Amino acid sequence: MMRPGELGEILVSREEIREMTRRVAAAISRDYEGREVLLVGVLKGACVFMADLIRELTVVTQIDFIAVSSYGKETKSSGVVRILKDLDEDITGRHVIIVEDIIDSGLTWSKLRELLLTRGPASLALCTAFDKPSRRTVANLTVDYTGLEIPDAFIVGYGLDYQGYYRELPEVRTLRLEAR
Ligand code: PRP
Repeated sequence: MMRPGELGEILVSREEIREMTRRVAAAISRDYEGREVLLVGVLKGACVFMADLIRELTVVTQIDFIAVSSYGKETKSSGVVRILKDLDEDITGRHVIIVEDIIDSGLTWSKLRELLLTRGPASLALCTAFDKPSRRTVANLTVDYTGLEIPDAFIVGYGLDYQGYYRELPEVRTLRLEAR
């Protein structure tokens, strides 16, 4: 069976991902020492990073997931985040850390943040495996925990997809779209 596109070079290796995950988990564990955290993975891309991250944390942790519509890809200027699957947990008074695979324009996070703040968490932070700061359209967006900053190349793997494929790759690779 053919998948769309053609895999290119490895941009982030398994070893770099392992180091990145440990570094981020250590920072979170240090910052939240003595507190309980609720990690919220944004489906679907965050599932791989989430699974790695929770196993490196030393703080008391629960997990939850949320799914939101990806309006940001077509209409860059407007819209509220549409919840496709809401949280199971009540986040009122809790220390919440959103877990993303990638921050690109920043639109998803800025809208999701507004929404979650209305629910009164004790704190709300953002943790992303990868960040493409050159793609940002939202001004003054704070990323609390960043695994790796990456250039603006089309990438797949480690949760990141193209048309639903390649999420299972253990490393991050570029994808060439012109070839097949
Ligand atoms: C990706 C990623 C973020 C968002 C980031 O999700 O997981 O949620 O895009 O982009 P932004 O900063 O420009 O808003 P996607 O919509 O691809 O869904 P997926 O996780 O199911 O692949």
